[in-house]
Amino acid sequence: MDQVTAREASAAPASPGRDDAAAGPVSAPAGSAAPHLRAVLAGIGAYLPEHAVSNDELAKTVDTSDAWIRERTGIRQRHIAAPHETCAFMATQAARAALADAGVAAGAVDAIILATATPDQAFPATAVRVQAALGAGGFGFDLSAACSGFIYGLSVADAMIRAGQVRNVLVIGAEVYSRIMNWQDRGTCVLFGDGAGAVLLRAEAGGAGGASARGILSTHLHAQGDLADILYVDGAVGQPDKPGHLVMNGREVFRHAVTRLAEAVGEALVANGLTGADVDWLVPHQANMRIIEAVGRRIGLPAEKVVVTVDQHANTSAASIPLALAAAYADGRIRPGQLILMEALGGGLTWGSALIRL
Ligand code: UT7
Repeated sequence: MDQVTAREASAAPASPGRDDAAAGPVSAPAGSAAPHLRAVLAGIGAYLPEHAVSNDELAKTVDTSDAWIRERTGIRQRHIAAPHETCAFMATQAARAALADAGVAAGAVDAIILATATPDQAFPATAVRVQAALGAGGFGFDLSAACSGFIYGLSVADAMIRAGQVRNVLVIGAEVYSRIMNWQDRGTCVLFGDGAGAVLLRAEAGGAGGASARGILSTHLHAQGDLADILYVDGAVGQPDKPGHLVMNGREVFRHAVTRLAEAVGEALVANGLTGADVDWLVPHQANMRIIEAVGRRIGLPAEKVVVTVDQHANTSAASIPLALAAAYADGRIRPGQLILMEALGGGLTWGSALIRL
C-alpha cells in the first residue's frame, strides 16, 4: 500500500518572465528562495450530456426496476452521451465553464490534468485534444486512477503549484462510461453515467498557512493493487471494435469503500488538526447513497452538509466530484471561505481524500 501526503510544503517561485495573459513553455524552477505558494480554487465548471435516462426508461431494456436501483443506490437517472459528446468534447465544455468562472483566458493555462478511465483514444492524451480545442498553452496529460482520478489530479496539480512549476492548472474529470458498459450485466450497467467537471487551480503566494488559509490544505492518496480484480475493464480500451467492459464485484467494492473512505476522511482531518465539526461540506464520490451516508456519519456530519448528486448523475467516476462541486456551487450552497472535504474510491483499488478551503 502506498501513501502520499502533501501538506504545507515550502515552494519556489513561479517561472520568471511569465504573465497570466500568455502561457509559454513551462519548466520547473531551479531552486531559488521562494514564498509559500498555495493552489487556490479559482473556477468551477461542468458539462452533462443532454440526454438523461430514467430508471424506468432503462428498465425497458434491462431486467431491473426503478425500486431496486433507488433502494440499493439512490440513483434515479443518469446522463448518457450522444456520439458527438466525446470525452474531449465534454471535458472542453467543462473546462471552458471553469475558465469563464475564474475569469482566466485559455491562453494563460499552464497545464491540463485530465482524469479519465474512458479516453477517446489510447493516445494522444485526451488532455491535448482539450488543449487544442481551448487554445491553451503549457502542457497536458491524462491521469488514470478510475473513480479516484479527480482527487489524484488535485494532488498532482497542488504539488506542481507548490513547486512553482505552474500557475494556472485545469484539473478535469471526464467520463463516458456508457461506452464501456456491458448492457447485459444489470449488476453494473444501471450504476454509471457520463459527464465532465473541471476546476481551475491558481497559484497564490503568501499567507501564514494553516487550516484558515485558502486553497488545497492537503491531499491523501492510496492504492492497493492486489484488489485490482474486484473492479476493472476487460478487453482493450481505446479500440472502437473492442472497447472493453467494466466488471465489478459490487459487494466486495462496497465493503472496502466504507472502510477505506472513512479512514481517508479521518486522515485529512487529523493532518490539519480539524474535526468533522469544522467541515462545511462533504463532497464525496457519487457511487452509492449508502456509502455516502456511512462516510458522513463517520465524521459526524449531518446529511444537510453532504452534497449528493448520485440521484441525478449516477456514478460518473472521475467526473463525479467536480460535477457535485459544480452543482452545489451553482445553487449557492458552496461559498468562498468554506471548508470542503472530498473523498473517492475506485478501480485499482485507488482511494483518497482532499481538504480545500474555497
Ligand atoms: O465507483 C466505484 C466504486 N463502486 C462502488 O462503490 C459500488 C459498490 N457496490 C454497490 O454499490 C453495491 O454492491 C451494488 C449497488 C452494486 C449492488 O448492491 P448489493 O446490495 O450489493 O446487491 P447484490 O450485488 O448483492 O445483488 C443482490 C440481488 C441479486 O439477486 P439475488 O442473487 O439475491 O437473487 C442480484 O442478481 O440483486 C440482484 N440485482 C438486481 N436486481 C435488479 C443485481 N443488479 C440488479 C438490478 N436490478 N440492476
